[in-house]
Amino acid sequence: MSYNLLKGKRGIIFGALDENSIAWKTAETVYKEGGRFVLTNAPIALRMGTINELAEKTESQVIPADATSMEDLENLVAKAQEILGGKIDFVLHSIGMSLNVRKGRHYTEQNYEFTTKGWDISAVSFHKVMQVLYKQDAMNEWGSIVALTYMAAQRTFPDYNDMADNKAYLESIARSFGYFFGKDKKVRVNTISQSPTPTTAGKGVKGFDGFISFADKMSPLGNATAQDCADYTVTLFSDLTKKVTMQNLFHDGGFSNTGVSQEVIEAFTEE
Ligand SMILES: NC(=O)c1ccc[n+]([C@@H]2O[C@H](COP(=O)([O-])OP(=O)(O)OC[C@H]3O[C@@H](n4cnc5c(N)ncnc54)[C@H](O)[C@@H]3O)[C@@H](O)[C@H]2O)c1
Repeated sequence: MSYNLLKGKRGIIFGALDENSIAWKTAETVYKEGGRFVLTNAPIALRMGTINELAEKTESQVIPADATSMEDLENLVAKAQEILGGKIDFVLHSIGMSLNVRKGRHYTEQNYEFTTKGWDISAVSFHKVMQVLYKQDAMNEWGSIVALTYMAAQRTFPDYNDMADNKAYLESIARSFGYFFGKDKKVRVNTISQSPTPTTAGKGVKGFDGFISFADKMSPLGNATAQDCADYTVTLFSDLTKKVTMQNLFHDGGFSNTGVSQEVIEAFTEE
């Protein structure tokens, strides 16, 4: 079912790697709702992934950009406006990567070069994207910028490693830049704190299978899927949420406010 919520709107979608990616589902859903956009990802991801399939399906062009490179981002934002024929209404930042996680370094044994690189990719890139949009005055009034995050920014999930710190930083950037984008350009900036989701990035977290089923049993509504996240993001890109800004919005089936569930109690009750 579609409601044409994004008819006439133009955007940039970062982070669609394959059909499991949250950004992939979001692109498909935004397209159904009438939005048009350019897709972007790091050059290496473009070689490894299947983004062209998505581009074809959604009549989009793909512009490579490493989200840590100001030069790439400046080129991306300028080109996106050219291709789409005007300023941008929505942006999805769906990017995350920890080198410490990838290389199996424990949180207490970090390699700080990895830490810095992961922080740049996963958190500072959000600031870089917004700074370029802001300086090029590329956003339309009442536009909407969304980044994806995880609850490890508030509570400890040991195997989430340094991504927890990156997400805390990312959420802070949303508030800080959200102030200036709101005041100066009437643009809103939010983060969505999503349930564990089986994607390439998600499955990289140690013990992911146990983790995702625990979250599911702890959430009164069950885990939010990638498609659920895409649907929620569409509402934030639409004109129905114009005054929502500088928020970290939990999209997790109720997990974040649940102390314990009946299923978890039963799993720990000795008969
Ligand atoms: N999967 C989960 O359990 C989960 C839960 C909450 C939040 N998130 C967040 O959702 C977002 C999307 O992740 P996903 O789960 O769809 O996984 P994914 O692996 O499909 O997407 C991550 C994307 O980041 C891109 N990326 C990495 N380095 C980049 C760089 N230098 N420049 C540009 N792009 C780069 C990758 O190419 C990939 O497309 C991430 O921010 C992730 O932390 C995921």
